[in-house]
Formats: sequence, structure tokens, C-alpha cells
Amino acid sequence: MISRQTIDAIFSTARVEEVIGDFVSLKRSGSNLKGLSPFADEKTPSFMVSPAKQIWKDFSTGKGGNVVTFLMEHEQFTYPEALRWLAKKYNIEIEEDREQTDEQKEELKQRESLFIVSEFAKKYFEEQLFETEEGQNVGLSYFKERGFTKQTIEKFELGYSPAKRNAFTEAAEKKGFGKNILEASGLSIYKDSDFGIDRFRERVIFPIHSFSGRVLGFGGRILRSDIKAAKYLNSPESDIYHKSKILYGIYQSKQAILKENECLLVEGYTDVISLHQAGIENVVSSSGTALTPDQIRLIKRLTPNVIILYDGDAAGIRASFRGIDLILEQELNVKVLLFPNGEDPDSFAQKHSSEEIKTYIEENATDFIRFKAGVLLEEAKDSPVKKAELIRDIIHSISLIPNVIQRELYIQETSKIMDVREEVLFKELGQNIQRKQKEDREKKQKEESSAQMQIVKEEVLSVNSRQVIEEELIRLLLQYGDLIVDLKDEQGELYQTTVIEEIISQFETNDLRWGSELYQSIFEDIKLGFENEELRTGDFFVKIFDEEKTKIASEAMMEKYSLSENWSKKLNIHIKPKEDNISKDINDTILRYKSIYLEEVIGEYSQILMQEDISGEVRNEQLEKIMILTEMRAKIFKALNRVI
Ligand code: CTP
Ligand code: MN
Repeated sequence: MISRQTIDAIFSTARVEEVIGDFVSLKRSGSNLKGLSPFADEKTPSFMVSPAKQIWKDFSTGKGGNVVTFLMEHEQFTYPEALRWLAKKYNIEIEEDREQTDEQKEELKQRESLFIVSEFAKKYFEEQLFETEEGQNVGLSYFKERGFTKQTIEKFELGYSPAKRNAFTEAAEKKGFGKNILEASGLSIYKDSDFGIDRFRERVIFPIHSFSGRVLGFGGRILRSDIKAAKYLNSPESDIYHKSKILYGIYQSKQAILKENECLLVEGYTDVISLHQAGIENVVSSSGTALTPDQIRLIKRLTPNVIILYDGDAAGIRASFRGIDLILEQELNVKVLLFPNGEDPDSFAQKHSSEEIKTYIEENATDFIRFKAGVLLEEAKDSPVKKAELIRDIIHSISLIPNVIQRELYIQETSKIMDVREEVLFKELGQNIQRKQKEDREKKQKEESSAQMQIVKEEVLSVNSRQVIEEELIRLLLQYGDLIVDLKDEQGELYQTTVIEEIISQFETNDLRWGSELYQSIFEDIKLGFENEELRTGDFFVKIFDEEKTKIASEAMMEKYSLSENWSKKLNIHIKPKEDNISKDINDTILRYKSIYLEEVIGEYSQILMQEDISGEVRNEQLEKIMILTEMRAKIFKALNRVI
């Protein structure tokens, strides 16, 4: 048990922005810090940290809390684990209320025990490597032969497992670890008996760390060539070791990845280590498997730029294409780098200086689409049938890229490489995208039909009018986005801005979100343009290759002069048509949108109030919130000249 005093010391020392900053790249945003949610896959940062209040809030998942709950959510720590982690970070000595008995140790949760046994094993293997004769003669000399320095070995906490078949198991049992936990960790194997043997025997050991540096599992490399066994042996899946969610080297490399804003992706443990030793520290490995979406998300937390380093074997490259499609889908920028014949990143790094490696990467990294086209074109050579197949393949990859402009650029590029007219490629792309959208829609429909969604929808009565207003907002953006309008701020001061800028800033400051995914996506496109000083209105969307968006844009442009009437009909309220007064339209529509948003939130709080089993305290809290929101809504209605 950690003493009360220690807990107090931890809470008063730990800074939420520093701790979260270890895991998420944060940027200043007013008095807060902002970043991409580590809990969701998102494009627009919605993860906020308040240094003043020492809290965090993730708007995309609704999670939030203090520094300890962040660690519990993010690292899946238990409460004591999170406290211990913080104590270590801030050099706070932990005062235990009383020593733990063996019984209490047994009671520790499985996960916590797995962390402890992994840490013990790591230290054991390190000791074996450095402090035993066998370790030095066999393991250490092997690492030396491979060119690893002592510093490198220590940085990656490499180790050695002796040849004796139960060396580790014996040591661990002596230390008090039970059969259950040793077996669960995969470090020991008990075949229907109480005599356990080691999984790793006579191998050099590569501990695999979590994002925050805890050991989760191990890889062990065989040293002898006279034995028929897998070159690498890895820990089996456990409660803490999930192969698909881990990247080897992420702990040692995360700072450099952030700093370089680029992540090199290699295949093996030794590639990561040798590159580090050569001074290239922004590198992780997927440990020989195809990249999973979870692993991509891990990278995406740190940077959107990935360079995949291959050792140039054609079959391996082809096999990896599917993985790269996954990366494209997550909106990462992917480049590919081949090494000269017979070289892999490990051997290359051993032979060249840091500068040489950097230059080689810079000069030879090729954009993925160009790379894929090149490899496949080589294979297809003069067969038209194969070439057609290859074009479809490339277009499929391009269709996965969410960004429209990037897609268009790739089409142009592919057209040149393949010597095929752009129109043809666009047609193929269009079909691909439609198919994907159809799949997405079907998936969405399935999700929505769940009973839960239905209930929520029925409760939020304003859904219909919300749709109408969203339509209206989109229409304003598409028709008048580039128009400069006169508006009044809350203090009644006049100011001038474009419609696009106004709506973007309203959405951002009020944390509004579109109910329609399609509108959300149009809005993202507009925002992206705006960030690059381009005002994207209907004209832009009419021309892009996206059927749904094009349709909306052309409708919006057609209805240019009937807008006010149009929605007065739908909402069944009377508004005088005022084509000449876009400012008022903008103003009113945004106010209406806000009021609907407020109604939804009030509805949610009212639901809570209606539950019978809530405490008086919660009830008062909810009432207070509802009152504030209702007051805000009244103000809006007043501004709209409407009576409640
Ligand atoms: N791997 C594995 N099991 C195997 C072979 C490979 O898990 N039987 C994984 C390891 O993570 C390895 C990576 O795939 O690092 C790449 O394999 P390979 O290129 O064969 O190994 P290298 O990292 O080059 O290892 P070495 O240089 O020690 O031969
Ligand atoms: Mn190798």
C-alpha cells in the first residue's frame, strides 16, 4: 500500500501536461494544449489538456480526468501502477504503509503480476548476459560480433538466456513467482507437470517495451546454426502482450519520431538497434509481420510521415502492399525506401555514417504510389492484361486516400507513369470510391439500426430540424463561402469576415460537430482549403471526383436565390426572403444551429434527471446545468426574435 503522504506528494508534483506530453504531441491553443486523441482515430485535434486546471478532456470519446486517470486509460494501468509510474518519473520515493505479505502478492491482479514477472525476467536476462561466463562467452560475444556497443545493449536492455533448460524458471520460482503467472507470461512451459522449463533457452533476448517503457514480452534469437529451430522465438500473447498493438522500439524512438516528424519502419529488431547506434533514432519495427491498424495508430500519435525501409526482396515487397494500403487509409504519408542488393537496414547502418544514411534516405525514399507502380510495371512488362490489372490495383490504393486533392495528384502521376489517359483513371477511381461509400453506408446503417441508437434518436426530438439547419449551413458555405459579410460579435461590435471563416470559427469555438458524415467531410475539405488560403465553395466541389459531394454542391448552387423560402417551408416558420442580406442569414442559421445543439444537450441532462436512483447532489448539478443552458437558449431565441 502506498502511503497517503506519498499519494499527496505525487499529486502535487505531477503535471498533467508533462505526463500527457510523453504520449501525445500537444500544441498550445489559448490557455490550453491541444492534440490528436490517443483514444480515437481522428483527423482534427479534439484532445484538450488544461495546465491551469490539471485536467484533460477527449472530446471524441468523451473521456476525461486527471493525470492518474490518463495513465489508467492510456497505459491500462491500475491505480497503484499509475501512481508508481508517476513516482518514478518525478523521483518521488514511495513510502509503503506496510510490507506486502506473500498472500497479498498472490492477490495482485494478473496483469500487475505479469508486468512484475516481465521486469524480473528482463533483469535476469541482462544479468546472465553481463555477469555469467556463459552469457559473456556466448551472448555478449555474439552482440559484439554484430557490432553492438555496450551502450546500445544497455539502451535496449538486451539479455541472454542460458542453455540450461530451466535456468530462468528455477530462478523465478525461487523468487516466489508461482506456476500460474510464469505460465501465463509464456516465459515458462509446464507440460502437465509441476516441473517448468524455459521458453527461451540459449538465445539472445530482445525485451519488447510498451510506449511508456514497461516490458511486455520478449523476442529471442537463436545463436547456433546446427539446431533446427525458428530463428526468432517470441512471447505468446498474454494479458499484457498483444503483438498487433506493439511496435518494437517505440519507447526508445518516440522522442526522435516527434522531433523529426517522421517515422522509419523496418522489419526486424536488429534493424532498429543498428540504426539507433548509427544515430538514426526515429525508427520502429513491426517485427516481421504486416502492419496492423493499431500499430499505425501508435505511429500516428507521433507523426503523419512514414518511410518504410525494405531489404529489397520482391516477394516481401509485394506482400507488404496490403499493409501499406492500411497506412494510406489512415491518412499517413507513406514513402518507401529500398536498400542495395543484399543489404538490410541493419547491415547498411553498420557500414555507413549517420550522415551517409540520412542522405541515402533523403535521396532514395520514393512516394508509395510511384513505388508500387514501378514494381508492378516491371512485373507486367508487355502484357496488356497484366497491365490493366495493375492499373486497377494502383487505383484501388489511391481510392483509399481520404484526401481529394492528394488523390487527384496521384491520378495525374499514375497517368504519366502508365501512359493511360487521366479520364480513364478517374472513371475507375470513381467506381472504386462509390463501392467503398456503399460499403461504408451499409456498415453505418447496421450500426444505426441498433436499438440503442434508435432510442437516442427518438429522444432527441430536434434531429429533424437539425438536419434542415445543417443543410442550410452547408448551402451557405457552398454558395457564399467566399463572400465577405458584416457580422456583430457578442458585444455588438461589427466585424468583417468571409462566410467560410465565420462558420469554421463558430464550429471551433463552440465545439460544434456535424451530424451528417458527408457534411462533416465537406466541411473538412473546406477547412483544409482554408488552412492553405484557398476558399473552397460550390465551384470546387462540383469539379472534384466525388459523386455525392458534387451532387450537393450543384444543388446548392442551383438554389442560390430560393434559400430563405426553402427552409421557412421546411421549418414551418415564416422568414422574409432577403437575398441581399446574407449576413443575417449566416447569423440566424448559426444561432439556430447553436440552439438545436443546446436542446440536444438539455435533453441529455433531462434524461439523467429522470432516472430515479440519482442522488440529490447529482440532481442539483444536473438542474444547474440545465438552467444555464436554458438561459443561453433563451438569449439565442431573443437574438432570433423568437419567443420560446
Ligand atoms: N521474425 C520472427 N520470427 C522468425 C523470423 C523473424 O518473429 N522466425 C521477426 C523478428 O522480429 C525479426 C523480423 O521478423 O527481427 C525480421 O526477420 P529477419 O529479417 O529474418 O531477421 P533480422 O531482424 O534481420 O535478424 P538477424 O539480422 O538477426 O538475422
Ligand atoms: Mn538481418
